[in-house]
Amino acid sequence: MNFSPLVLRSISETREWSREIRRSGTLGFVPTMGALHEGHAELMRVAARECGAVAVSIYVNPTQFGPREDLGKYPRTFESDLELCRSVGVKAIFFPSDEIMYPRGRENFTAVEVPGLTTLFEGASRPGHFVGVATVVTKLFGIVVPDVSYFGRKDYQQWLVIKRMTEDLNLGVTLRRVDTVREPDGLAMSSRNRYLSAAERSMALSLSRSLKAVEMALASGETQVKQLEKCMTEVLGDNPGVQLDYARIVNADNLKEQNVVESHIPESAVALIAARVGTTRLIDNLLLPPVSG
Ligand code: PAJ
Repeated sequence: MNFSPLVLRSISETREWSREIRRSGTLGFVPTMGALHEGHAELMRVAARECGAVAVSIYVNPTQFGPREDLGKYPRTFESDLELCRSVGVKAIFFPSDEIMYPRGRENFTAVEVPGLTTLFEGASRPGHFVGVATVVTKLFGIVVPDVSYFGRKDYQQWLVIKRMTEDLNLGVTLRRVDTVREPDGLAMSSRNRYLSAAERSMALSLSRSLKAVEMALASGETQVKQLEKCMTEVLGDNPGVQLDYARIVNADNLKEQNVVESHIPESAVALIAARVGTTRLIDNLLLPPVSG
């Protein structure tokens, strides 16, 4: 039987709880924006296996949303989030207000800027997004003070940005990456999937299908990035309801362009895809060549 997690709303009580936990074991931490699904649950399960106690944060961080993005309508489902956290054995949830996180306002805060990586792909399409992400994760690390923090591969560029920031700022948190959890038909789980109508939901499948097409082309010997990228766009081309933002294959460490995928070096490249299905923006990715492939 799992007890309901402690809900911590202030910084001081969270720090105090964390200090107490770390006196006798390791603290694992899963930062989230709520609207929790099986992908988040997997991060929490891995954390629970590896750490003495797990804390989750639920905070829809306003500074990572652009002015025309979905901050206002982002799903807020605290009661079912609490139940999911309880079911996987989470010990505490940090659930702060905007006033606690940004007491001087959303326009007036000390920001963390990670150069290079943040201007590409998601950073190019969503200016300022990664400044918001890097800043809030730094703040959360400072409040929760975890030993280990868990992130999903689903947001691959975010993972690289957080890894770089944690190293550069010597934040002293060990980072762990957890693989993407998918629906049985391949759609990567996302809090934003609940915006999709039934018709859009089936069109959204073209993202994971395009990644599958690349995987198959690579397995059959095609290593030229231009050709592999063409495979991706061909799959997407059949869907008039899917507005492609980017479908690219780049170096997995620094997101720089490369001409070929080194088929003998597992996970040396990453296929990144972003598209709008109706009004919902979705992302997905695949590391190439896959470890098992
Ligand atoms: P959110 O979108 O709620 O995601 C929280 C964590 O869950 C991230 O590390 C994300 O990569 C992971 N995740 C989401 N979908 C997943 C899936 N299908 N499989 C595996 N992991 C998945 O990402 C954020 O929140 C925010 O940017 C945050 C880091 C909390 C900062 O505000």
